[in-house]
Amino acid sequence: MKKKLLLSIFLIMTVILSGCGTEKVVLPSQKEVTDKTIKDVFAEHGMKVGTCVSSAVKNDEKMQALVLEQFNSITMENAMKPDYTLNHDKSMAEGKIVVEFNSEALSLLGWAKNNNLAVRGHTLIWYSQTPEWIFHEGFDTNNAFVGREEMLTRMESMIRGMFEELENQGYLSLFYAFDVINEAWMEDGTIRKNHWTETIGDDYLKYAFYYADKYAPETIDLYYNDYNEQYKADTLSTFVNTLKDENGRYLIDGIGLQAHLFTSDDVAGYLAAVDILAETGLKLEITELDIGLGKYQNPQPATDTHLKEQGRFCYELIKGLFERADSGKINMDAVTFWGFSDGISWRREYSPQLYDSELNPKYFLYGAMQIREHSGY
Ligand code: GLA
Repeated sequence: MKKKLLLSIFLIMTVILSGCGTEKVVLPSQKEVTDKTIKDVFAEHGMKVGTCVSSAVKNDEKMQALVLEQFNSITMENAMKPDYTLNHDKSMAEGKIVVEFNSEALSLLGWAKNNNLAVRGHTLIWYSQTPEWIFHEGFDTNNAFVGREEMLTRMESMIRGMFEELENQGYLSLFYAFDVINEAWMEDGTIRKNHWTETIGDDYLKYAFYYADKYAPETIDLYYNDYNEQYKADTLSTFVNTLKDENGRYLIDGIGLQAHLFTSDDVAGYLAAVDILAETGLKLEITELDIGLGKYQNPQPATDTHLKEQGRFCYELIKGLFERADSGKINMDAVTFWGFSDGISWRREYSPQLYDSELNPKYFLYGAMQIREHSGY
């Protein structure tokens, strides 16, 4: 009797769990499936492949090893954003903006150099994660905003200071791309209003590229980077056309597509936007790829069904990009994932990365590596 009861409880639980799809499906390991790494696969299409990193990654032996094995490019998740590169005390003391890396940035740069990792610079001019004090008289937020001329001088110091600091520290040659402006356009085709537009005006965008072009070495491509790019393709194409010098030469080299996507998005629609942007003749890079389960307002649980959808989504997306790059339709030299592990992603509630939080491969990984039979089909 007792045995029967236990058996029925067990059966009921099994039905409930499988109904919810929460059963954990363990995929074959990467080594069982292929002798290639992610970077091998992307190299076959002329691309670097990157991930964002922080100290949390570098200080964890297992994660550090995975990054070095699978990727050949990094972007700092935070350490090179203006909030962390502009030194308030020194700027106050010197009366001009002083750029100085913190210990996290220096340690990640040293790590990249010792391990031949290329670096994407992220980011020079942004409305977010930028200290408020840079906009005020005397670098003091109690004071009024400075005028246009002073703010242009400060912008120039920020940009020149970044490249000088990289050179002084011996890391400039690691960089192949740099985000000059992050997220300046709205989905309705207007310029985002922020402290840059308030102090300088809408032409702050052109000035940023003008200064970056002046101070960055030729070896570093200069990027405009944005999210929801699939809804902004026409806006961005028109915008980049304005970024030319008196001789008609582009001050910009590439458009960064953040690609913070969801499985509810439409891959074909996304690739159509990529094609529109490619017509500018500029380089394109995918800069912050993640694919969340569900949609922004509605995360879905990591069931086998949803994880398979994610795998197929990634397979189709990367296939579309590889085909376009191989045929010369787009000029794309790198794809960067915004992390690699679900456990430490900024969007972990959507399970949006290649590996799960124990670093086991997901269908997503095999989708990215174009191994169709393990991508969730
Ligand atoms: C944007 C920024 C990134 C990062 C993400 C969230 O996409 O460009 O630097 O802040 O948001 O991690």
